[in-house]
This record gives sequence, structure tokens and C-alpha cells, in this order.
Amino acid sequence: MANVAVIGAQWGDEGKGKIVDWLAERADIVVRFQGGHNAGHTLVVGDKTYKLSLLPSGIVRGTPSVIGNGVVLDPWALKAEVERLREQGVVATPDTLMIADTCALILPFHRDLDGLREDASGAGKIGTTRRGIGPAYEDKVGRRAIRVCDLAHLDDLGPQLDRLTAHHDALRAGFGEPPIDREALVAELREIAGFVLPFAAPVWRTLNEARAAGKRILFEGAQGVLLDIDHGTYPFVTSSNTIAGTAAGGSGVGPGAVGFVLGIAKAYTTRVGSGPFPTELADETGERLGVRGHEFGTVTGRKRRCGWFDAVLVRQSAAVSGITGIALTKLDVLDGFEEIRICTGYRLGDETLDHYPAHAAEQARVVPIYETMEGWSQTTAGARSWAELPAQAIKYIRRVEELIRCPVTLVSTSPEREDTILVRDPFAD
Ligand code: IMP
Repeated sequence: MANVAVIGAQWGDEGKGKIVDWLAERADIVVRFQGGHNAGHTLVVGDKTYKLSLLPSGIVRGTPSVIGNGVVLDPWALKAEVERLREQGVVATPDTLMIADTCALILPFHRDLDGLREDASGAGKIGTTRRGIGPAYEDKVGRRAIRVCDLAHLDDLGPQLDRLTAHHDALRAGFGEPPIDREALVAELREIAGFVLPFAAPVWRTLNEARAAGKRILFEGAQGVLLDIDHGTYPFVTSSNTIAGTAAGGSGVGPGAVGFVLGIAKAYTTRVGSGPFPTELADETGERLGVRGHEFGTVTGRKRRCGWFDAVLVRQSAAVSGITGIALTKLDVLDGFEEIRICTGYRLGDETLDHYPAHAAEQARVVPIYETMEGWSQTTAGARSWAELPAQAIKYIRRVEELIRCPVTLVSTSPEREDTILVRDPFAD
């Protein structure tokens, strides 16, 4: 029996929520291992819709849920999300929610800095979620972060605070901002510590015990491989490694702990924020994809950019992330298109490429090479078996598999949980 990691194989927003919820119901423990409250996972359970940004999806069904050390944690956002869920009848307790005591904290000045930098960047801005994710990871790597475990030792914070405030005060001065009010910061931390600390735990131990006991662990990725700090469209990326390999390091288990890697990919492509997007359609077809797919961000409400499926990018994502099988989502959005295009390679000047180049200027310059397929007029919405799919839709899926060199193990045909064609059960491996 495999543990499963679910990750986005494009630029995030691939429709992970529904699939993670389906898997979370059958998992014994669900783990977030990177990112922070920049994620946006929408879960529809019965007649209720839950919007999660930071908490692992298992929480909604009472499955023990873990926030791993690889996550950056905004304690105030945590409190707000826990309280919002409580109003919807979901109560997080230290039995159902464990937070790694080694998580680095996102502090109010991280959020300020994220916004100040974006505002100052003009056309070069990254289009971040402005939640302080990047600045918090910078402080973690710079070894000046305040971590969850520090909340129990606030009186000993002196030298760490010196390093942290010296660094940030210099940055803030550059933006014409006042220095950090240390006393106010410590007072705020003291107040929130009482909320966070009951959830704090050495989660690496819980996870290793769960593994030893043969429990099923679901590692829930956020964002997508193309936003990975190393493998994504740098610098237009998030500040963490979003690949499946991070599941181990970001939670404190060995690399062998992840068995099946389920990559989620839309049947077309979307992106929020800035950065290159070779198959983007700034025309009526792109508009049509956006309207049919309801392509607006869960966290920021921003309109998503839309384009055809890019097999080069998903093939690369599958390779760098070791994807075992793809869940192809939102197939029904392609219903009714006379022709559907798939990007199979790129042209860069006189060269033909079968991969995405590393350099940002080249990433922006590549011209997609398309293959055109006949579309289908029937609806695929709500299909639950291959037999319910038009022949052309099956042909499209088979061609996608061929091009990305990875099997499609699940097809999602509507936001409803049951509207799914399951080819291979990841937990059954
Ligand atoms: P940050 O993660 O807020 O620093 O934003 C960096 C980039 O990642 C921006 O392009 C964001 O739009 C994108 N991003 C961050 N989180 C998500 C997500 O959950 N879905 C899609 N894009 C995201």
C-alpha cells in the first residue's frame, strides 16, 4: 500500500481540492509540506463549501491533519481560518491538527514587505499573493526566522530579534517605512502564542510512527511544479519547492515515504500572476476557456490567464516530480470546441525544442508548435466512465498521455466528487 503525494503539474489551480478531498477521506493522516496561506483549496462536501488556504484538507472530515516544517505559518491567518471553519461546524483540536514546532513564522512585516516590493516593481512585479510568503522563506534561509517553538520561549528571543529587526529595519528604511516596534511585536506574539502552542508538536515523530503502523499518509502539495523555486518559471515562481520530493523534507520522513505521486493537470492551462505562458490565448478562445472554467483565483479573486494544454511543460513537470499518474481535470470545459490544440514543442529562433529552456528571456520568447485535434460537440460533463465519453475526447486523453509520457489515472468531469473516471486507485498500489 502506497502513501500518496498530490501535487499540481502546472501553475497551480488545477482543481486539486476535489481530488485531495476524495483521497483525504480515505487517508489516515493528511500533511501539508510547503507553501503557506497562499494556497487556495476549495472543498465541496455535501451542501457546504469550504475554502482552505493553510490547513490541510483532511481537517474538514476530521482526519488528523499535519502542517509540516516546510510550511511558513502566519499564526494570525491560522487563527482566522480555524475560527472560520468552526463557524461552519468544523472544530480543529490538538488531536486533529498538529503543527511542526520547527515551522518558520510569517510576521506582519513580511506581509508589508511583500506588498511594498510588488508595488515598487511596476511591470516587473511577480504578482504574488502579498501574504508575506517570500519574505518569510528568505528569513528562514537567512537563519533569522522566528519559529513556532520560539513562541514558548519569548523571553529568550533577544539575539534572534536583533538579527531579524536589524535586517528588516534596513529594508524598511529603504522604503521609507518606520523601524519595527519590537515591544509591540513581542506583545502580539505573546497573545497569539496561547492559540498556536497547543497544536505545536514534533510532527516528524507522529508521521514516522504512523508510517511504522502502516497508516495511509496523504501529502498535500500546494501551488504547482511550474511555480517551483528551482524547476519553475524563475523568477515568476513561489518561494518553495513544490515538487513531490519536498513531501519528505518538508514533513520529516524519509524519501521512500512517498509511494504514488498523483500530478493534477487541467485539460488546458491557466496561470495567475505574471510570468511566461507560451500557450496563453489573449483572444476570444482564451476568454471562452476562462468563462466556461470559472477561472478566477480562490485566494485573490484575480482573473486567471488561459491557454491550450502544453504537453511540453507537463512532461517536464512529470519528470522532475516523479509523477506516477496524472489526474486530468476540467475536461468538460473543452466541450463544444470545434478544434482543440495541444502544444508539442517550441520554436526558439531557428531551433526546435522538446523542453522548456531555463532562461527567463528564452522562456518568454519560445513559440509553441501546435498539433490540432478535432473537438467534440457532445457533453462530457458528469461522465463517470469511458463509455460516457465521446470518442474524440478519449482520443484527446490518449494523445495527452503519449505526449507527456505518463498515464492518465483519473479524469474529472465536473466539480462533483462522483463525476470522476478512476483508472487506477493511488492508495491501492
Ligand atoms: P507567492 O507564493 O505569494 O509569493 O506568489 C508567487 C507566485 O505564485 C505568484 O505568481 C502567485 O500568483 C503564485 N501562486 C501562489 N500560490 C498560488 C496558488 O495556490 N495557486 C496559483 N498560483 C499561486
